[in-house]
Amino acid sequence: MNQAALHQFLSSEELYDLTKADREALFRKRLSTNLTLIQDLFFSLYPRDNHAKAFDQLMELLPNLFSLRSEVLKTTDLEKLIAGDWYMSEQMLGMQLYVDHFNKDLKGLQNKLPYLQDLGVNFLHLMPITTRPEGENDGGYAVNGYTHIDSKYGTKKDLASLTKKMRKEGMYLMLDFVVNHTSNEYPWAIKARKGSKKYQQYYYTYEGREVPDEFEKSLPEVFPQTSPGNYTYDKEMGRWVMTVFNHFQWDLNYTNPEVFMAMLTNLVKLANLGVDIVRFDALAFLWKKLGTISQNLPEAHQLISLFRMCLQVIAPGVILLAEAIVPPREIMRYFGEGLYRGNECEIAYNATFMALLWNSIATKETVMMRKSLEDIADKPESGTWINYVRCHDDIGLGYDNRFIHEMGWSPQPHRQFLLDYYCQGLGWSPSIGQIFMHNPKTGDGRITGSAASLLGLEKALKEKDTSGVTQALDKIILLHGLVLAYGGIPMIYAGDELGALNDYSYLKESGKQNDSRWVNRPKHHWKEVEKVLGNTDSPAFKIFNRLKQLIALRKTYPCLADRNNLSLLAIGNPHVFAFERNGVQCKGILVIGNFHETTQAIDTSFLANLGYAQKGSLNELIRGKKIELSSGLLELKPYELLWLKQY
Ligand code: GLC
Repeated sequence: MNQAALHQFLSSEELYDLTKADREALFRKRLSTNLTLIQDLFFSLYPRDNHAKAFDQLMELLPNLFSLRSEVLKTTDLEKLIAGDWYMSEQMLGMQLYVDHFNKDLKGLQNKLPYLQDLGVNFLHLMPITTRPEGENDGGYAVNGYTHIDSKYGTKKDLASLTKKMRKEGMYLMLDFVVNHTSNEYPWAIKARKGSKKYQQYYYTYEGREVPDEFEKSLPEVFPQTSPGNYTYDKEMGRWVMTVFNHFQWDLNYTNPEVFMAMLTNLVKLANLGVDIVRFDALAFLWKKLGTISQNLPEAHQLISLFRMCLQVIAPGVILLAEAIVPPREIMRYFGEGLYRGNECEIAYNATFMALLWNSIATKETVMMRKSLEDIADKPESGTWINYVRCHDDIGLGYDNRFIHEMGWSPQPHRQFLLDYYCQGLGWSPSIGQIFMHNPKTGDGRITGSAASLLGLEKALKEKDTSGVTQALDKIILLHGLVLAYGGIPMIYAGDELGALNDYSYLKESGKQNDSRWVNRPKHHWKEVEKVLGNTDSPAFKIFNRLKQLIALRKTYPCLADRNNLSLLAIGNPHVFAFERNGVQCKGILVIGNFHETTQAIDTSFLANLGYAQKGSLNELIRGKKIELSSGLLELKPYELLWLKQY
């Protein structure tokens, strides 16, 4: 039983009638339930001998932070506490969007909620809307103020109006907590620059190069092309500062407990804006240690659990998403391990599945995907994935080399093939993507581009190749259909619901030119959207409506809620990917997708064994009619996706 389940159990009587619930008493109960863990975590990071006083400060801080939370949010906290695993539901359907690219500002977004609801979206991830430096700011991931809304998006009032409306409509909100770094204009950074010793210790700052040079021996580079190295010299401060991402993003020094407490305060204030899920940005980087790559360190996990355990006491309805784009087995650790299993992050990005989908499209085979996913199947029951096809970032090729070897391939040439396939290095490839952060020292590179352009739509439209267009649409639906049925929350990336192509306008914008991730951050031009959605022949109309049908289907089948009820199936055809969402209190669903451009056949004997074939007929949900089997083989058209329902 994890701590959340314990809270639910211990509070069940008081929660019987919410109007009578004594919120203060429940807070104290949660605090006493989590106290041992909070204490252990705190003193393992900040040894008691030197930090006993800091712990007392934390104990004072927690009730103060609780008192900052509004009564409305305290009520939703208790509602979610009763509901328990509300985020596991088959009803959850997310969209990630840039507020300004979507419809200008927060008010504009609120006006477009009906569009999102029409598609079936009930959960929004808004990309950063807080204040940031002018010019380069990593899309707002350089934070000037954690709860100050940048005027270009509107005001705090606009956000409050949006969240109120969303709550009324049963929609959930996710915002980023950029926990690893602030911008170089954040008040702490400004004070550090002006010479404050206290604030210089909020970051990793050094007078000389000795420590930075030692660290550089083992630290990799995140943005080797635009921000090589991990330190920046700040002239005003006269010191080097650690900047693992961009030179204007200063890494926070969590070895200082004051930083933890100040950031916990920021986290609670952010949650108090009406956030249901907090995206812990770049959390793998939170702890730094000489001689290591300073990612995924045990102390980083302890720190995240500490944030988790404290936030749970204050706001039990708010949960955490791990943005850990790291090797597959490392991602799993963000759900918590051992005593902390289920006590770290409730949700993690399934970056493994996402990257494997792209591997399967390029190679047209699915064995590596199945084997790799089997390897990470053991997540805690309280944990779930965000499954996605594309997002605002690049696609990294962080596959586990073991599985590349098992396929009989070599890791380096295989990755090179993928870069060539997606980034215009092979004339025959339908893909139009761009290479991102090519590191000539290591040969590494990542991929940018919109889903539609990577899947061949841009090229097919340019060449007026109608069968190419059909194939690209089928691929778009195939990938989204898999993501919609796999256990977890599907997150559609805004623009993909219309098949948005690459947007090259960033090349003309200063502050963006050097970052090709902007090619996959498209804008919604609403006049155009209305036009294409009014034209039944347009690719956008077809994608939107096919997706809408799939989303509605997802929401009708409770076995698609995440109950750890996923079985990956080896069905004898390497081009076909199949998994079952076993029925727990309902019939199961079997999902089958063809990753090949030719028709593929599969042996159907296993379908009858699993209960999906009866008297030679299959119950297929997407086509909406039965498939009659005339032989022992089932044929799948190129890139076809089937959702079969159990009899
Ligand atoms: C995350 C974001 C990415 C950003 C980085 C640094 O990985 O997704 O866009 O550049 O964090 O904040």
